[in-house]
Amino acid sequence: MRRHVGGWVAGVVLVSLVPAVCVSEEPTPAAGPTPSAEPTYVGEQSCRVCHVVEAEHWDGTPHAAVFHQNPRNALERRGCEACHGPASGHVADPADRSAIVSFTRGSAYDVDHQNSMCLECHDSKSRLIWRGSVHERRDLGCSDCHNTMAKISPAGLLRTRSASETCFTCHPKQRLEFRKRSHMPLLEGKISCTDCHDPHGSDNAFLLRADSVNQLCYRCHADKRGPFLWEHAPARENCLNCHRPHGSNHAALLVSSMPFLCQECHAQSGLFAHVGGLLTQGNLMRGSSPDERLVNRSCVNCHSQIHGSNHPSGVRLHR
Ligand code: HEC
Ligand code: HEC
Ligand code: HEC
Ligand code: HEC
Ligand code: HEC
Ligand code: HEC
Ligand code: HEC
Ligand code: HEC
Ligand code: HEC
Ligand code: HEC
Repeated sequence: MRRHVGGWVAGVVLVSLVPAVCVSEEPTPAAGPTPSAEPTYVGEQSCRVCHVVEAEHWDGTPHAAVFHQNPRNALERRGCEACHGPASGHVADPADRSAIVSFTRGSAYDVDHQNSMCLECHDSKSRLIWRGSVHERRDLGCSDCHNTMAKISPAGLLRTRSASETCFTCHPKQRLEFRKRSHMPLLEGKISCTDCHDPHGSDNAFLLRADSVNQLCYRCHADKRGPFLWEHAPARENCLNCHRPHGSNHAALLVSSMPFLCQECHAQSGLFAHVGGLLTQGNLMRGSSPDERLVNRSCVNCHSQIHGSNHPSGVRLHR
């Protein structure tokens, strides 16, 4: 196939790549596999001749802005080929899929190779631990979450309009959870999955952005950090002893309803204990012998400082 491609650099000098790549360096036919010619860079202007629409969309992205106006190194000056690799072979024969690094289904290059094109420039921040992260191990590509060919999201070059929407494409369970009666305002747009998780990798379980669940929660709920004179042991240990992170049909994201939540750990019975004695369904508001201690906020009616107390006599978390 003969194809003339216009324009090194400014499109002034028309260069025919065909003789350069396909004829002069073409190895003489021989039996068995032959090494193809080492591909070379052809420059962004060549790509624009055939990929008019893609190039126009790409022009709206931060990559185009930096690569065109303020390239910091030789690779950034390559334009399209910074990501798609040297493409002389592709220009000579667009049907040869192995001659261009593509990022969509059917790419001739494996995901690891595709990702390495991006990591060439983005091997910083949490991408330092991308390799080994759960997403990497499950063979995700950068382009599963990012579309760098057009500006679809306000920031982050994401595939969808927002980070959370992007996560929902593979995590529908969490979308359902955030629709439950009690949930943090994620669907309302006030927080995002990426406030709590780092999709690129984390030193901690579940890609969390903090050293522990509690450290994560304290970032936004600083009042729960204390220090408290009287601590409630399970709160210091892990907020998820009582709360769900994504959503719950019980009030305040609780893992179960009151008073059963408390009774999972407090089951004392005896002369003065008022916990074990409240074990029956009959004690509930609509039961046969309702107990006033179980109406409204139940145990927390009295033990209101459930996360910890600073009152000198708040040992029972009353005040
Ligand atoms: C002579 C016209 C022509 C030029 C020049 C050209 N391409 Fe293409 N390109 C095509 C055609 C045609 C296809 C579709 C091939 C197919 O579907 O089999 C294609 C497909 C692609 C794909 C998708 C490949 C895939 O496997 O899905 C990418 C990425 C691409 N081109 C990038 C580039 C880049 C980057 C440049 C500049 C270095 C460039 N092209 C220059 C014609 C061209
Ligand atoms: C920052 C890296 C990067 C740069 C720079 C870049 N591309 Fe792409 N390109 C991608 C990724 C990633 C995809 C896959 C997009 C997707 O997942 O839909 C892609 C897809 C494509 C495709 C396949 C069609 C498609 O949308 O799937 C073509 C054609 C293409 N790019 C051409 C170009 C051209 C022409 C340029 C320069 C004007 C260019 N690219 C610059 C990363 C890049
Ligand atoms: C040649 C270097 C280079 C390559 C290759 C490259 N990038 Fe970038 N990328 C940049 C630069 C430069 C910026 C602008 C950063 C800045 O503003 O500091 C950027 C910005 C970004 C941003 C942030 C955009 C925003 O709105 O803030 C994302 C996301 C991104 N790149 C993803 C990718 C992905 C995915 C790939 C591979 C398909 C890729 N990049 C390949 C250099 C590169
Ligand atoms: C599971 C989805 C996902 C994958 C996979 C992913 N990213 Fe991201 N990335 C995001 C989201 C979401 C953001 C926006 C983060 C935010 O809202 O703070 C982002 C932000 C970025 C940014 C800009 C902000 C920053 O941290 O510098 C760059 C650059 C980037 N990603 C590069 C990459 C590269 C390179 C890869 C592949 C190795 C990759 N990403 C894989 C979801 C992903
Ligand atoms: C292309 C699909 C895909 C997208 C998009 C995606 N994920 Fe994932 N994610 C996965 C897969 C696959 C797993 C592994 C699930 C498993 O092993 O059960 C996973 C696992 C996780 C885990 C559990 C980690 C662990 O240690 O068990 C978290 C947290 C997570 N993803 C957060 C996110 C966030 C946040 C986003 C959006 C920024 C996102 N994911 C986008 C596919 C995806
Ligand atoms: C307020 C912080 C927070 C937000 C926002 C958040 N998560 Fe989580 N997520 C967590 C915590 C904490 C865990 C760990 C649960 C555990 O230890 O059992 C978790 C666990 C996960 C897991 C592992 C499986 C599971 O459900 O336990 C996935 C997957 C996940 N989150 C995805 C998401 C996605 C997708 C979003 C956005 C829709 C999101 N998360 C928003 C805090 C959050
Ligand atoms: C990025 C900030 C952020 C992080 C991190 C965060 N939260 Fe929240 N949380 C919020 C916001 C915002 C609200 C809504 C507050 C309001 O409406 O006044 C909220 C509300 C709540 C509520 C009350 C829900 C209701 O229905 O009344 C609980 C319980 C809660 N968060 C627990 C947690 C736990 C547990 C963690 C750690 C896993 C956590 N939060 C981490 C921002 C955050
Ligand atoms: C022993 C169970 C338990 C533990 C552990 C726990 N909470 Fe709670 N939390 C509750 C209960 C019960 C409520 C509802 C209180 C009410 O009805 O007033 C609540 C309410 C909340 C609320 C919403 C009302 C408010 O006080 O702002 C937030 C936010 C919250 N918890 C955050 C946290 C954080 C952060 C942690 C971890 C440090 C944590 N909780 C650990 C039982 C617990
Ligand atoms: C995951 C287990 C767990 C859950 C759930 C739990 N607690 Fe506790 N609670 C403890 C532990 C452990 C202590 C410390 C006991 C000690 O020091 O002897 C404690 C201490 C207390 C104390 C102080 C008692 C004393 O002897 O000083 C009160 C009051 C209390 N919890 C009330 C509640 C209420 C009300 C709930 C329900 C909202 C609740 N707890 C849920 C484990 C739990
Ligand atoms: C009407 C107020 C009130 C309600 C409702 C209440 N408590 Fe108490 N609770 C108290 C008082 C007062 C004490 C302190 C008794 C003492 O110091 O001797 C106490 C003590 C405790 C203690 C310390 C150990 C013990 O048994 O004396 C625990 C644990 C406790 N409550 C848990 C609960 C749980 C769980 C519930 C819900 C099932 C609950 N409380 C409901 C008032 C209440």
